Amino acid sequence: MAESAYDLVVIGTGPGGYVCALRAAQLGLKTAVVEKRATYGGTCLNVGCIPSKALLHASERYEEAGHDLGRMGIKVGSPQLDLPAMMKFKDAGVEGNVKGVEFLLKKNKVHAIQGTGRIVAPGKIEVTGNGAARVLATKNIVIATGSDVARLKGIDIDEKRVVSSDTAIALGKVPERLLVIGAGVIGLELGSVWRRLGSKVTVVEFLDRILPGTDLEVAKQFQRILQKQGITFRLSSKVTAVDNSGKSLKASVEPASGGAAEVIEADVVLMAVGRVPYTEGLGLSEIGVRLDNRGRVIVDENFQTNVPGIYAIGDVITGPMLAHKAEDEGVAVAEILGGHAGHVNYDVIPNVVYTFPELASVGKSEEELKEAGIAYKVGKFPFTANGRAKVNMTTDGFVKILADAKSDRVLGIHILGADAGNMIAEAAVAMEFGASSEDIARTCHAHPTLPEAVKEAALAVDKRSIHM
Ligand code: FAD
Ligand code: NAI
Repeated sequence: MAESAYDLVVIGTGPGGYVCALRAAQLGLKTAVVEKRATYGGTCLNVGCIPSKALLHASERYEEAGHDLGRMGIKVGSPQLDLPAMMKFKDAGVEGNVKGVEFLLKKNKVHAIQGTGRIVAPGKIEVTGNGAARVLATKNIVIATGSDVARLKGIDIDEKRVVSSDTAIALGKVPERLLVIGAGVIGLELGSVWRRLGSKVTVVEFLDRILPGTDLEVAKQFQRILQKQGITFRLSSKVTAVDNSGKSLKASVEPASGGAAEVIEADVVLMAVGRVPYTEGLGLSEIGVRLDNRGRVIVDENFQTNVPGIYAIGDVITGPMLAHKAEDEGVAVAEILGGHAGHVNYDVIPNVVYTFPELASVGKSEEELKEAGIAYKVGKFPFTANGRAKVNMTTDGFVKILADAKSDRVLGIHILGADAGNMIAEAAVAMEFGASSEDIARTCHAHPTLPEAVKEAALAVDKRSIHM
């Protein structure tokens, strides 16, 4: 028997799910969320964005204390790493964030139900795992169940020595040698954390480049910087097996195209070859919700599946697996259900790698423009020529702006540099408003700031940058 009736039940409380529920409640819909984790906030808050950024921040300060502060006349001696305390700092950050979501759900009168949800029929969700099973009746369902770690055949993730990001954010000791499989975002972010804390880090990447999808010129310079910091890259290579029988792990590394294997020894192997949509136990095949060939829930432009009244958002559908993309989809679907015109502009979704320096981009890469046959102009400006970067000793990197050759409309902005993740917001706003490179170039930027490099790159599109 259905025990209560809702306008909307959201399954999953990651950035997609909880934001969707909050917006729906704001719009007056009677809303509930179902979450199988003990805490709210999904992958992002519990084991993803938030804990990884806490460790990136802390390890960056550790490295700064050891290397850079002395050059500014601040003598602190040799910093001592207290890893358990650093992990506590990270856990406190997570706790503050997940409690924040709990507070927001309560404040907005969203019913938060702990347990695993399974759709038994359109409009009916069975919740198990926290006391007696119960069935929720609802007009609409949003699937926001997120994603899970992708695995490689033949390599067992034991979460002890062969780990996923879930454990790589919680290691009890700094591994002497860390082997990372995959030069994507997780590999580079968590590889950076452990390198700063003392690991010798080797990254094995299947492709002949790091960060596939990112503008190639930017990715190449980024790789050089990471190499200078001490990370070793093995591109065009694949790990085919990890022997965990001995004291050291022995990874077999082969050329991507096949050939003789070489053994690389490591103390910890981090599997970071992507994530896959998570729909296990949801009952989708039984009720006929269609998935694509990569297991993603297929939705239409209103985020509705092929079964009326069942919607899906976030990592479980197509598109970049990013928290802010999931959030925007959550808002859009809530607004659609509330009778408004929800919309996500997929052309303007920023992407940030939170290493040092950071790599942030929005819009198209040069490779994408070439492939689409779009004629474009390029403006670039290095941080070595930016006054604030010079004085801060953060001169690695550059800004690159791609603008339409005819209309001058900005098509892509790529920033490799300290604080790029904050600077990309300007680029996203400009693109959302359909800015030309001249619009950015003629916008007064405060001096001395790093974003002046964005203005200079915009000037450089028409070869008139001032400080180069
Ligand atoms: P999720 O956050 O995965 O949430 C899904 C929730 O659904 C989970 O809590 C799960 O327990 C619950 N659930 C699943 N099935 C059921 C069920 N049947 N019943 C009840 N509950 C269920 N993105 C960024 O934008 N920036 C970053 O800095 C960033 N860093 C990351 C770092 C790491 C290490 C990782 C792994 C990911 C990172 N991401 C980052 C990606 C980001 O975490 C995801 O894109 C985002 O969490 C997706 O949100 P979501 O709401 O779709 O799903
Ligand atoms: P990813 O898709 O970013 O990178 C995976 C990498 O592994 C790719 O470079 C791929 O070519 C490589 N690879 C695949 N198979 C391989 C093999 N057999 N051998 C060697 N290399 C192989 O995935 P990642 O880093 O696991 O992250 C998962 C998701 O989480 C990403 O899609 C990302 O969007 C999200 N995320 C976002 C962050 C951010 O926004 N800062 C931070 C961390 C994760």
